[in-house]
Formats: sequence, structure tokens, C-alpha cells
Amino acid sequence: MCGIVCAVSDKPVLPLLIEGLKKLEYRGYDSAGVALYDPQPDGDQFARTRSVGRIAKLESALAKKQDSLSSAGIAHTRWATHGKPTQFNTHPHVSSGKVALVHNGIIENYQGLRDELIEAGYVFSSETDTEVMVHEIHRQLSLGHDLLEAVQSTVKKLRGAYAIGVMNADEPRRIIGARSGSPMVVGIGDNGGYIASDMSALLSVTHDFYVLEDGDIVDIQDGKITLTDINLKPVKRAVFTSQQSDEAAKLGEYRHYMLKEIHEQHQALADTLEGRISGTHVLEGICGADDQALFSQLEAIQIIACGTSYYAGLVAKHWFEKYGMPCQVEIASEFRSRKHVVPNNCLVVTLSQSGETIDTLGALKVAMEAGFAHSLSVCNVPESSLVRESDLVLMTRAGPEIGVASTKAFTTQLAALLLLVCAVCRHKNLSEEQQAAIVTELRELPALAAKVVSRASEFEALAEQFSDKQHALFLGRGSHYPIAMEGALKLKEISYIHAEAYAAGELKHGPLALVDENMPVVAVAPNNSLLEKLKVNIEAVKARGGKMLVFADEEADIENDKNCQIIKITAVDNIISPIIFIIPLQLLAYYVALIKGTDVDKPRNLAKSVTVE
Ligand code: G6P
Repeated sequence: MCGIVCAVSDKPVLPLLIEGLKKLEYRGYDSAGVALYDPQPDGDQFARTRSVGRIAKLESALAKKQDSLSSAGIAHTRWATHGKPTQFNTHPHVSSGKVALVHNGIIENYQGLRDELIEAGYVFSSETDTEVMVHEIHRQLSLGHDLLEAVQSTVKKLRGAYAIGVMNADEPRRIIGARSGSPMVVGIGDNGGYIASDMSALLSVTHDFYVLEDGDIVDIQDGKITLTDINLKPVKRAVFTSQQSDEAAKLGEYRHYMLKEIHEQHQALADTLEGRISGTHVLEGICGADDQALFSQLEAIQIIACGTSYYAGLVAKHWFEKYGMPCQVEIASEFRSRKHVVPNNCLVVTLSQSGETIDTLGALKVAMEAGFAHSLSVCNVPESSLVRESDLVLMTRAGPEIGVASTKAFTTQLAALLLLVCAVCRHKNLSEEQQAAIVTELRELPALAAKVVSRASEFEALAEQFSDKQHALFLGRGSHYPIAMEGALKLKEISYIHAEAYAAGELKHGPLALVDENMPVVAVAPNNSLLEKLKVNIEAVKARGGKMLVFADEEADIENDKNCQIIKITAVDNIISPIIFIIPLQLLAYYVALIKGTDVDKPRNLAKSVTVE
């Protein structure tokens, strides 16, 4: 899972390639490299620079080349799958000084191809699956094929997923790209043609794109862009004009993107709701012109997602079922690999910040093949694969989320899901009065979120007690159990403290054995019908010498004492309280990570968008 950006222009391309890689760093940040067409005194045609670590390191390594006039190049940021993040494994890979290639994806049958190529005399310099492609293209060129034919015959031999950019030393004004299973867009510029894993990488040079489909090949030569299918038959793809702005993704005054994104939540929530509620109801058509006709026939909902998005789905299950709509939620990687009994008139709802998570895309495909009736995506990236592949969409409008730990994408997913619950369940058990009550709560949501965020320094003060701990437990009940799960995920992914969430009622069935003074226990305690039961669980922890940190509703009536610290959160209606209660947990995790000195926005071993299975 990696990011690629390639350019052929009549201007120097190095600055664009570096900027593009920075935008794609969310896809992986183990190592990065660039190859420019730039004949060297020693006879090499490519100037290749590769470095292990972040793009900033590559940038320093390229400092001497800043003035390179090279007008063609390919670049890559890597999230290692085959082979450790070492210089040798870093892309671009080169064959015999003649062909250079970058790749996002995984080649499943690389071992067989590698054996064949070794037999044919090729010497491998990396442990990657990618390197087989560059040697195979070289072999095809030596057989007399043109570069386009060489790429075509190579990709025809591949099994797996690829988005590649290829340069040939003999054709300095040409780059070829091909994709299957990994995303690729082609930027249409006044001064050239470009390839990237997503549009954000190229917004500084163009807003016009072709979005390639599986099997497509693009040939960019002397400013001319030609698209073909895998059999080299010309194909037409509509020009897509991106509305994304290049500015929204800047850090500004904040120390980290995660903090910025937590602080943006009230605005993001307001944007999610804008134009979608009116008076006492959610408007018709928020998911597409005919959504009400479809929703009125629904008999079930199947939610599919990964990571934080999956936890949003678990909250939504409580909401859908409260108002009479059967709802199942499953992790996408599990959903895609088993047989299904397909319920009648079931809407598949995929949840995804990026819209590019390969397991979620794969699960949607499996669902449609299995015969699920309709699909809807709740997604944050309008131009993403998931949005393009779904019948209906409900955009979350959180704006670019750069921090790997998802924050505003989660709360806006929840707000969007609550809109969806109204749009769907008013055909079931949701009465007009109940819908009006939810709409009233939703209107208050942005201000309530802002109020909780403004108390950041209080949550910061709690962080110290976690900084020397190895483990933590998070407890919740009902629709706040997924909030405990998301709180635990935030803590573990950015502070590296092992954190587990339990449905509070399960405490006595095992995890209570772990509780002692070294195991902080965090509970989420809204003022709802489950509060009395949760209080019993809190007492059980205290009785074993455990230390509790309870985020409680103002009206929850839980006593502060030396083993139980209560942090009162605004009194809030039960339906929207999961959206409010996650905010202190996000801030707590952030401040613990600050004390621990981790790389908050780019935690080790993770990536923002996971495009491998
Ligand atoms: C990665 C990210 C998470 C995200 C998950 C699902 O693991 O680090 O923040 O929740 O992928 O991503 P999606 O884009 O599909 O919501």
C-alpha cells in the first residue's frame, strides 16, 4: 500500500513530485524515492534518489538536485509489504539502467516470475514483489517490443493488484501507467500529463482528471494522453473536474493534524448537516434523487467497514434497531471472505473515510455478487472508488483528514448515519415526533462539540496518569460500548499503550482479573437507562483496587473519590451522546501521545488509507 506520482511536462517536475508525495504520505511513509530522466556522466539515464523514512528525509537527500531541469520523473512513497523498509527495497526500481518503475499494490504470483527472470539472467537487488515487473518490461523491450506493448504483455502476466508508472531511458518524453485493483488517476495539464494514486497529489497543476478503471493503460507522450484497455484498444473515460481545494489540508497554527482535526469537528459536523435538515425532519433525497422510494422498501441494513469506520457502524446499529430496522454490522475483511444468506431488500451501507480501503471495496463487490439489493456509501472523499461504485452516497463533508488516527471523520460519519437513520426508519417505527426530536438534537450538535473541545486543557491534565502505564481498559454499554472501543483504539494507535475495550457487563467474565493499581480503567457513562448497571461495574473495579476515570453525564450522579475520578461532560440527549463522548477520549489519547513523544500524525507501522488486503 503505497502512493505513486509521475509527471512528464515542459517544466521541471521535481518540485511537483515532492509535493505530490507529501500529499500521498497518508498511504505509507516507510521510505520514498524519485527517479528523474536526467542522463548522468557515468552513462546512467536516470538520477535515482531513495531514502528510508519520511518524505522530508527524501527532500533533504534531494537538496542538491533542487535545480534539476528534468521534465520527466516518477516517485513513490512506500508502506512495506514484501521486504523491510530499506534503501534497496525502496522504489523506483530500475532494470539495467534502462527501465524505471514505481508500483502500488501486491503481485501475488511474483515468486514464479522472479524464478523465470533469474533463469533468464536478471539480477534482483530487492526483496520486493515489484521488481519482477521492471525486469519483465525490460525483457519485453529486448524482444523488440515498444514500451506500451512491453507494459501490456507484462501486466497480462500479473496476478494481484497494481498501479504502476514506467519510464524508458530511450524515450525521455514518455511515461506509461497501468492499473488493476489499485487506484490511479491521470491529471490533464496544460504543460503535460501526470499520473497519481489520487487527485490530491496533483491539485497544484490540474483539477482535470481521468479516473482509470481496472485494466486501463495510459500512455503519456509529448503532452498527448492516450487511454487504452489491456488489449490496447482505445477507451474513453470522462473528464472529472475535482472540486477539492489545495488549501484545506494545511496545518496552520496547530502542532499536529490530529489536534487540528479534533478542533475542526464542530464545523465539520455543521457541514455534514447543512442543507439536509429542514424544520422538524431530514430532507428527502439526501442520498440521491430516488432515495425515499428505495428506503420505503427496505427490510434490512448490512453495514460493512474497517477500523474507526466499523465502530461508527456499531453505534448506528443501535440507532437503526431502536427504530425498527434490522441492522447487521461486519468488519469488511471478514465479510468479504465468507458465504452469505442474503436478506430480502437489504441495503448494504459501506462506511469509509477514504473510500479506498481495499477490504471495504472488496466486501462491497462480494455483497453485490451475492445478490444484496442496493448499496450506499457514507464516505468523506467525493472522488473515491467507493463513491463511484455505490448506487447511493451520503458524503460526510469532514474535509481532508490527514492524521492517521481518525477523529472528525468518525464524528461526521455518526452525524451522517443519524441522518440516514431518520431517512430510512421513518418508513419503519420512527414517529414524526421522534424524528423532530433527533433533528433538534442534531441542530445543537456542532455547538455541543465545540463546547467539549474547548475543555481540552482539562483532558490534557488527565494524560499524565497514563504516561507510565503499559495497559488500559475502556468500558461502555449499549451505543457507548463502540465509543469505548474507539477510545481504546485512539489510545493504542498513537500512544502505543495496549488498550482494550469491553462491554462493561463482560468485565466480570475475565478482564476483572487484570485490574490492579497499574491498570487504569476508563468508563463512558452517559445518563441513560444503562447507567445504574454501569455504576455496579465501576464499583467492582474500585473494590479490586483499580483506578477509574469516568467520563460521565453532568446528571449521572456518580461520586468522585480517590479511586474514581469523574469528568463531567455536558448533559446531552442519549441519541447524540456517542458523538459527544468520543471527543474527550480523542483528546485524552492525543495528550498521552504528546507526553510519550510519539509521532502523533504518523504512528509507527500504520497508514491512513489501507489499500492492501
Ligand atoms: C486505517 C486508518 C483508520 C481507518 C481505517 C478504515 O486503519 O488508519 O483511521 O479507520 O483505515 O479506513 P476508511 O478510510 O475505510 O474509513
